[in-house]
Amino acid sequence: MNCPIIAVTNQKGGVGKTTTAINLAQALALQDLKVLLVDLDPQGNATQGVGVRLETIQNSISEIIRDRTLPVDSAIYQGDNLDLIPATPLLSRVEREMVALTNSELRLAHRLAPLRERYSLIVIDTPPTFGPLMNSALNAADRLIVPVDSSYFALMGIKELLTEVEEIQRGTNPGLQVMGYLLTLVDPTNIANQTFETLIGNFGERVFETKIRRSVKLREAPALGKTIFHHAPESVGARDYLGLAEEVMTRLGMGSAVIDRSRPSLSLVAGSGAQLGVSHE
Ligand SMILES: Nc1ncnc2c1ncn2[C@@H]1O[C@H](COP(=O)(O)OP(=O)(O)O)[C@@H](O)[C@H]1O
Ligand SMILES: [Mg+2]
Repeated sequence: MNCPIIAVTNQKGGVGKTTTAINLAQALALQDLKVLLVDLDPQGNATQGVGVRLETIQNSISEIIRDRTLPVDSAIYQGDNLDLIPATPLLSRVEREMVALTNSELRLAHRLAPLRERYSLIVIDTPPTFGPLMNSALNAADRLIVPVDSSYFALMGIKELLTEVEEIQRGTNPGLQVMGYLLTLVDPTNIANQTFETLIGNFGERVFETKIRRSVKLREAPALGKTIFHHAPESVGARDYLGLAEEVMTRLGMGSAVIDRSRPSLSLVAGSGAQLGVSHE
C-alpha cells in the first residue's frame, strides 16, 4: 500500500488516542519513515503534544478542510521525519459548518490523497465523538487503530464504532479496515487482564500483542510538548510505543523495524516560510 493512512480512533474519550497517535508517529519517524501526523481534534492535544503552541498557528486542518483552494503545504509544520498538520479550537466551528455542505466528509480524504506521494505513512488523531470530523477520518483512512483502555466498561463502545465503520465501508470507503485493537492504560490489575482476554476472545489476532502500560512519564510528556522519545527515551512508555511501531510496520508489510532508540531528536519548525513558534520546553 502506498503510504497507508492510519486513524487512531474510538469515540470514547481518555482512552489514549492522542498519546498513541503522537508516540506511534514519533516511533515510526525514528525508524526512518517519513511520517505526517494530522490532528483532527478541536482540542488540539496532539498539536500541543508535539510542541506546537495553538496561539502561534496560522493555518491548520480547519482552513484545509474549509478552503479547497488553499495549498495544503501552508498548514504543514515540518520536523525531523515527523511533520504535523495542527488543529485549533476553530475546528469545532468548521465541524458545525460541515453539516450543511455536500460531501464535506470526503474533503479530508481528497486533501490528504496527494500527500501520499511525499510520506511513508500518515497518522490521524481523531476527536472523541461521532460526527463529521470522525466520519472524515473514517473516509480518509485505510486502517484504524482502536485504543481500548483497561477498564471494566472499555468494550462497551466498540460495537457502536464498528457499526459506523461498516457503514463507511458499505458507502464511501470500501477499503477501510481495522488494523488492530490496542490495550492502553494497563496497570497491574485483574481488570486489565480480563479486558485483554475479552478483546482476544472477540477480535483474536487483530489485538496487538503490545500493551501500553500506564506510566507517569507518558502522562507528563504532553504538558512539556514532547513525545515520550524526547521526554524519557528509556522509559517503559517509549519501549511500549516502539513495540507497537514494530507491530504496525509488520502488519503493513513494511518489514520488521530495526529499533533505533538513539535518535530522540524532534524539532518541529514552521512550514512554508510562516513565522510560527515552537515550544519544546
Ligand atoms: N499509558 C499511559 N500512562 C499514563 N497516562 C496516560 C497513558 N496514556 C494516556 N495517558 C493520559 O491519559 C489521559 C487521556 O489520554 P489521551 O491520549 O489524551 O486520550 P484520548 O485522546 O483518547 O482522549 C491524558 O492525560 C494522557 O496523558
Ligand atoms: Mg485525544
